[in-house]
Amino acid sequence: MPYAHILLAAASIPAFCAAFDPLHHSGPASPYFDAPSQDGISYDTPSGCVVDQAAYIVRHGSRYPEPDDFTGWQQLFAKFQNNSYTAEGPLAFIPSWVPPVDDVPHEPLFLSSTGAREAFSLGVDLRKRYQFTQGGDNITVWSASQQRVLDTATYFTRGYLSQGNYLTTPSLNRGSIISLPDSVNYTFANSLTPSAGCPAYSTGDTSSVATTTFRATYQNNIAARLNKFLDGLVLDATDIGVMQDLCGFQAEIDGDTRFCDVFEDSEWLDYEYADDLNYYYGSGPGNPFSDTVGFPWLKAISDLFVLGPDKTTPDGNITPPALIMGFTHDNNLPPVISALGLWNSSATPGVYPLSLTTPSPARKFRSSYLVPFRGYVALERLACGAPPPQKVVHVAGQAPMNVSTSSYVRVRVDRAPVAIPGCTSGPGSTCTLAQFTAYVDKTRAAAAGDFVQRCGLQSISNATGEATFFTVAPLDIQEALVGLN
Ligand SMILES: *[C@@H]1O[C@H](CO)[C@@H](O)[C@H](O)[C@H]1NC(C)=O
Ligand SMILES: *[C@@H]1O[C@H](CO)[C@@H](O)[C@H](O)[C@H]1NC(C)=O
Ligand SMILES: *[C@@H]1O[C@H](CO)[C@@H](O)[C@H](O)[C@H]1NC(C)=O
Ligand SMILES: *[C@@H]1O[C@H](CO)[C@@H](O)[C@H](O)[C@H]1NC(C)=O
Ligand SMILES: *[C@@H]1O[C@H](CO)[C@@H](O)[C@H](O)[C@H]1NC(C)=O
Ligand SMILES: *[C@@H]1O[C@H](CO)[C@@H](O)[C@H](O)[C@H]1NC(C)=O
Repeated sequence: MPYAHILLAAASIPAFCAAFDPLHHSGPASPYFDAPSQDGISYDTPSGCVVDQAAYIVRHGSRYPEPDDFTGWQQLFAKFQNNSYTAEGPLAFIPSWVPPVDDVPHEPLFLSSTGAREAFSLGVDLRKRYQFTQGGDNITVWSASQQRVLDTATYFTRGYLSQGNYLTTPSLNRGSIISLPDSVNYTFANSLTPSAGCPAYSTGDTSSVATTTFRATYQNNIAARLNKFLDGLVLDATDIGVMQDLCGFQAEIDGDTRFCDVFEDSEWLDYEYADDLNYYYGSGPGNPFSDTVGFPWLKAISDLFVLGPDKTTPDGNITPPALIMGFTHDNNLPPVISALGLWNSSATPGVYPLSLTTPSPARKFRSSYLVPFRGYVALERLACGAPPPQKVVHVAGQAPMNVSTSSYVRVRVDRAPVAIPGCTSGPGSTCTLAQFTAYVDKTRAAAAGDFVQRCGLQSISNATGEATFFTVAPLDIQEALVGLN
């Protein structure tokens, strides 16, 4: 009675044990999902608090492959097509598989429709979550200028402004995008891609060896397992790398998840860990210049949080909105984690620096929870007063009483609240604004060091270690208007 057997097996899975989802373990190839709350903090804004200012640094949305990766997909396709073989079981689909790119000049590099939707949804979500923007108001956002990043900023803005009947009045309710040069070496720290402006940064990146070495420990074993389903064709380690990438990519491009079903859970965990090493040692806390590169954004936002919403610096000629959005690439998120001092120390000894051979289940630095497509690191400034009263008296025509409030700061990574080390005394494990700014200005500034010096830019007369672009319009920005028409 195989049917009854299956029912029995299904019934024995505890209700709280969600099925393993490879798309939540595909690192930078994962379409966006909310990260689990690793610190056990509720996702909600604590009772008695409102967010009055917030800043997001966001990776672009889901996209087609980079040209190099696309070449790998085409080579795999040629291998599947140009040989005569028998495939069975989990691989029975490969003779009929075609790469999900059907318009080569317009797809590789660019956003997919899933990426556009992710960006639009973030706009809708943040408009509702914070309620900063009245009907008819505009918003300005900042973006690195590669097309897929600008397109993410554009779809975000459209989602953010999508309420009301503005489709017929496109002169109202417009967004502006301040577009910054992308991955150039002459804007230094004053950039949403500052790693490209720090010459020393690449010398601290040891991710290539770490990742290659770790992949060698599992890819051949997977190939050997899968080759038992093939007669006349032999998969190698390179093919396994491409096939695992295709799970996330094809899921977001055309919804086909057949490659996700080919691999076992433990094989996904190895694949994910290779990307954890890639980001930890490449752009995260394992690169000694990571915090240096992430600090300027953190300092700029911390200073704006001290000023409060809708204020600018003394030298400012732009007043940033209460919601300060910056759009960029995956490698510019881990430096912000490093600058904040997150995910690099643990009560459990031996977790960091990440082991090159043995994944620790206690690690919180996980690429899938940080840099999926449209992943983000966010800081929120909260105003918290007494808990809301159970009973209120309203007098006609009189404005409600204001409660006096104190300010706190919360970090969110892909929506999950993350505790700031040693600073969790506020509501919902938040950090008081005063302690947060002291932490940034003293502890984290000392760890990051001086950008110009550490990056080796002392001889460049116009090198800058500050990110001022949120308040001071740089010389070579381009501004684009986003209408809804
Ligand atoms: C291999 O397959 C590709 C894709 O089907 C095809 O374009 C190419 O001509 C084939 N090459 C050979 C040597 O058969
Ligand atoms: C939005 O920006 C447009 C273009 O600069 C301007 O014409 C319009 O008045 C602005 N709308 C609001 C509500 O500020
Ligand atoms: C920027 O890159 C160019 C071209 O590679 C190089 O000539 C120049 O020295 C670099 N500038 C800095 C500040 O590193
Ligand atoms: C710094 O000077 C170089 C060389 O004159 C120039 O190309 C670059 O745009 C300048 N950078 C900034 C941020 O002004
Ligand atoms: C991360 O931890 C390692 C090991 O303790 C340390 O060498 C490194 O400086 C830390 N990185 C940051 C950004 O704090
Ligand atoms: C409450 O605060 C708002 C914003 O600061 C202010 O406009 C309003 O007048 C205050 N209401 C009272 C009753 O003081």
